[in-house]
Amino acid sequence: MDTSTLKTIAYQLMQGNKGLLAMDESTTTCNKRFQELGIPQTEEYRRKYRDLIVNAPGLEEYISGAILFDETIHQSTADGTLFIDILKRKGIIPGIKVDEGAIPMVGFPGEKITEGLDGLGDRLKKYYQMGARFAKWRAVITIGADIPSSTCIKANAYTLARYAMFCQEAGLVPIVEPEVVMDGDHSLQRCAEVTTEVIHAVFNALYQHRVDLEGMILKPNMILSGEDSAEKPGLDEVAEATVKCFLKTVPASVPGIAFLSGGQSAALASERLNRMHTRFGDVMPWVLTYSFSRAIQQPALELWNGNDENIIAAQRALVHRAACNSAAKIGVYTA
Ligand code: 13P
Repeated sequence: MDTSTLKTIAYQLMQGNKGLLAMDESTTTCNKRFQELGIPQTEEYRRKYRDLIVNAPGLEEYISGAILFDETIHQSTADGTLFIDILKRKGIIPGIKVDEGAIPMVGFPGEKITEGLDGLGDRLKKYYQMGARFAKWRAVITIGADIPSSTCIKANAYTLARYAMFCQEAGLVPIVEPEVVMDGDHSLQRCAEVTTEVIHAVFNALYQHRVDLEGMILKPNMILSGEDSAEKPGLDEVAEATVKCFLKTVPASVPGIAFLSGGQSAALASERLNRMHTRFGDVMPWVLTYSFSRAIQQPALELWNGNDENIIAAQRALVHRAACNSAAKIGVYTA
């Protein structure tokens, strides 16, 4: 493992006014988003949509790295240039989602465990040869009356740590994503408690698996109330709960924290990130940025709607959201 190269990649991913673009929706997730808008759910339409994204003019001003899905890393533009080569030409570091999805955890009703460790070492070698320099693995933690169980938290933390070690061995920076999902009617306080326990378990497992914390990125949820909760916390409450949770749980040697958006509206995700920076910008030891999928892409996807004549408008909307989050990262976002 070449630790200095990993550190350099992690540093480049977190640099300046930039963050990450998650465009690694699995075929099932991408099709679901297409279906909601009546866009044909075919490989060609998925290709066209990703073509629009990687070719959006100016994206590279705000995006340091883009996370791809296996189908996408093999796809090309209409003229035959691989998407991964377009990203590299723009100075955007290509990354790859390598988990194989979260499935129900047998014996633990309502809970999930993420699969994909079998054969992971070989897959990572291939992705590295294709040009990927970082990877992503998402674990899903659900809040309910009696969940999450400590067994589910530990199993996912260990799996994330095994994945991270595989990545570092293969020369890829692991993005470690333990997502406490927004589903449910829980309070912000409960989300804070569960997320704190999860992040503690994850860093404990990373330490035990000898993962180099300087060569990884954490991708967590913000601390929010459940989407069915009557509680609607304000920007200050979210910013304070979120930053406090990570100050307590994330070692200062971790180069960066890059949030998932998790179903928040595009504007709210930017406002909340911005408030964390205006309130706490001077006390955070790590870079705090974005690794959004929906909160960067959704307005663009809706504008595109599968029509070629909407491509330019959709690209503008995409780069606009990337620019908004870039402004939020330095605390100067205005809605
Ligand atoms: P969202 O920003 O839409 O939550 O997606 C981020 C991601 O990569 C989920 O794994």
